[in-house]
Amino acid sequence: MPEYQSLYRKYRSQTFGDLVGQDAASRALQGAIISGRVAHAYLFSGSRGTGKTSAARLLAKAINCTGRSRDSAEPCNRCQSCLEMTAGSALDLIEIDAASNRGIDEIRDLREKVNLAPALGPFKVYIIDEAHMLTEPAFNALLKTLEEPPAHVVFILCTTDAQKIPLTVIGRCQQFVFRRHSEEQIVSRLSYIASAEKVSVDPDAMALIARTAQGSMRDAVGLLDQLVPLAMGPISLDGARSLLGIADPRLLDSLLDHVLAGQAAEALAELNRVYAAGAELRQVVRGMMEGCRDRLVAALSRHDNVTARRLSGVLDALLHLDGEVRRHAEPRFLVEATLARLSVEMGTGEAVVAPAVVVDAAPVKAEAVAAPVAAPVSSAPVAGWSDVLEKLNRTVRAAYLDAQPEVDGTTLVLWFRYGFHHKKAQEQSAQLMPHVRAWLGDGVKVDYRLRENEAAKPAARPASPEDDPFVREIVRRFDGRVTRVKEVSE
Ligand SMILES: Nc1ncnc2c1ncn2[C@@H]1O[C@H](COP(=O)(O)OP(=O)(O)O)[C@@H](O)[C@H]1O
Ligand SMILES: [Mg+2]
Ligand SMILES: [Zn+2]
Repeated sequence: MPEYQSLYRKYRSQTFGDLVGQDAASRALQGAIISGRVAHAYLFSGSRGTGKTSAARLLAKAINCTGRSRDSAEPCNRCQSCLEMTAGSALDLIEIDAASNRGIDEIRDLREKVNLAPALGPFKVYIIDEAHMLTEPAFNALLKTLEEPPAHVVFILCTTDAQKIPLTVIGRCQQFVFRRHSEEQIVSRLSYIASAEKVSVDPDAMALIARTAQGSMRDAVGLLDQLVPLAMGPISLDGARSLLGIADPRLLDSLLDHVLAGQAAEALAELNRVYAAGAELRQVVRGMMEGCRDRLVAALSRHDNVTARRLSGVLDALLHLDGEVRRHAEPRFLVEATLARLSVEMGTGEAVVAPAVVVDAAPVKAEAVAAPVAAPVSSAPVAGWSDVLEKLNRTVRAAYLDAQPEVDGTTLVLWFRYGFHHKKAQEQSAQLMPHVRAWLGDGVKVDYRLRENEAAKPAARPASPEDDPFVREIVRRFDGRVTRVKEVSE
């Protein structure tokens, strides 16, 4: 059996004509190549998988090609220089990955060797990938070279984050922005690859891949790459879905229905079905976001503001969840907790609270205190609490995502809605405390409270909350004190 070469590598553009989209950059580069007016430094910026590295290698190849016709920018792909460049063995093409060790050694090396003449062609080309990751000393060293570049050197900085490149460096570069690909561009490229590979892909499956790739040609080709070796025969929409871990939109639709109808148990059961069918949670959340957006647009166009508000709240929460799911290795609990919370809020007709740290909008009653209704919770702690969350590592942070903060004197009260978060958070308190102390001072105490637990209690409550064995245990274990007692009315 022949070795399977990844489509991603096999179909890297080897000519400008084969580079999809990026018309402005492509045209300008070709013009410069033909007229012999290539700049000393370029900055290719834009989101991942849009052709920055490919275009950089094309430029390097074209300016060193010996078989290129004078009125064309296209490399011949046959001369020694072209062949070496394609194979990755060309001495005159130096690729530096700034992400791997932040470029310190490479830039030092570059400073030493940059003045040496090229080995074969007229130009020595340095491609600095993920250039925004360079350290400050590396940038400074690079800048010195950019200020007086030897005539035979071309730098191409590629980055997904141009804002992190110092302006002094940007000022020395000609910049091109690489755009995300449209779904049409992706479908057309995938069709080309599929027919070259002699695999048959259903147009619906193709459209699904294009949508999933979100503008990244690399991701689209990578997804096709996953499908081709696994698929026996033609690739259908259903086949693509299950292989890619994408849930059937009809299932997601009914999941969303349950959430909006406030049916938490049904929503979780439906989620389990979707999960068991092999869907990836990231795709589930994304699919729900799409469904939610469609419904939101529909509600807005029929001027149904009440529904629109509910939907935009749900969409907000899903957006937040999407960010968390990406960062989390075991996101299932997060998804379950969020969907359960949303369902409960929908069911009780309460306003939707988007990120977990936003102040709870559920009605709160003071119980052991005389005042009939507690003052609205101040929003002040939210910013400080967000900063604390940012400082925690992912695993620890996950335990606190459900927490809603209140600051009461020298006590930080963290309210939890779910038992397992409440428990997890307490287990991780050693990691949390240094950041809380940095925020609220050394004397601060943290009080972990569970809302549902209190709400679910029978009518006969202990005379004083301090007598409650649960509270006593918390106070003992965390060296805390009871400052305020609240009841949540369901
Ligand atoms: N504009 C494009 N045209 C055709 N294929 C592309 C394009 N951009 C990316 N690809 C595909 O994605 C792979 C990675 O692209 P690359 O140039 O490394 O992207 P970037 O450097 O912007 O992340 C390529 O090998 C190719 O298969
Ligand atoms: Mg790249
Ligand atoms: Zn050539």
